[in-house]
Amino acid sequence: MTHFLALETSCDETAAAVFTDELAVLSSVVASQTDLHAKFGGVVPEIASRAHLRNLFPVIDEALTKAGVSLNDIGCIAVHNTPGLVGAILMGVSAAKMLALGLGVPLIAVNHVQSHIYACRMAAGRDIFPCVGLVVSGGHTALFQCDSPLSMSLLGGTRDDAAGEAFDKVAAILGLGFPGGPALEREAANGNPKAHAFPRAFVADDGRLEFSFSGLKTAVLYACHGQDVSKAKPPEPGPKRANLAASFQAAVVDVLTIKCKQAMRKTGLPRLAVGGGVSANKPLRASLAAMCAKEGAELFIPPLSLCTDNAAMAALAVEKWKRSEFAPADLDAEPNWI
Ligand code: KG4
Ligand code: ZN
Repeated sequence: MTHFLALETSCDETAAAVFTDELAVLSSVVASQTDLHAKFGGVVPEIASRAHLRNLFPVIDEALTKAGVSLNDIGCIAVHNTPGLVGAILMGVSAAKMLALGLGVPLIAVNHVQSHIYACRMAAGRDIFPCVGLVVSGGHTALFQCDSPLSMSLLGGTRDDAAGEAFDKVAAILGLGFPGGPALEREAANGNPKAHAFPRAFVADDGRLEFSFSGLKTAVLYACHGQDVSKAKPPEPGPKRANLAASFQAAVVDVLTIKCKQAMRKTGLPRLAVGGGVSANKPLRASLAAMCAKEGAELFIPPLSLCTDNAAMAALAVEKWKRSEFAPADLDAEPNWI
């Protein structure tokens, strides 16, 4: 049996995990930097890189200890080297290269977006391919045709904000803090999702599988403050704020659900795999489950711990390891993928 140590540093979570070539996850440790970025209302790349540098080795130590193994038991190092913040990814890639070289074991480069879909395969405990994949996070909102774990072709993506970015920005408008997604979901639970008829962009079934969330974000801003937003303050807690949150969330959930349905019909694939931080959203999970049940399609969404950024989903490396697809010693960080 081969033990893998995987690292994830693409944004603001420093994560390490130990798993086996049979996809048994022995440990998965995530150190969040939320507190460091909260006062800026978003992730500051330079601060993220420095925090990765501080956190990486304690996180690796914890992952090894929790898995009950030592570095000498590790037979392969995996790292997410694309996509993400270049300086942040570099921290993980540099540490991974050093560990692989020092231990004399192979290094495997893994694509973070593909890993989000692979998390569905891991949670299902069985093959889920071919399927439609929706990756919906702070950095991405895109639909893919996933023919196999390592073969994904883009069906369509967002033209502007990612859905998670829209959650974070609307949460900031409403004064709910950072990260916005979970806070906005909590606020929306007390509101009326039909209070505001916010726009749902690109929902016509015209063959395009694209998204746009920036108009929705502006619609919330104007509904909150009127057209003069120059001196606007976040609304007080109460029904107005809750209704704005609930109506915004309903618009995002509707759009994502409709586009997933269209993607399954277009590709003829009655299987949907969903990954990325926004897939932790409970109303979204319920809406996708209802749509898939109606369409006679299978839905794969991982448990919450595998939805948001983590290193366990880099077990996608096992698929590359089986094909001896190892990374070169000069592996680089690639900020852009699609
Ligand atoms: O996948 P992820 O952890 O990091 C990226 O690769 O971007 O996703 C983070 C994003 C953030 O925008 C966060 O606000 C959003 O996922 N998010 C949520 C929820 N939990 C996290 N959005 C809506 N509802 C949630 N419960
Ligand atoms: Zn992610």
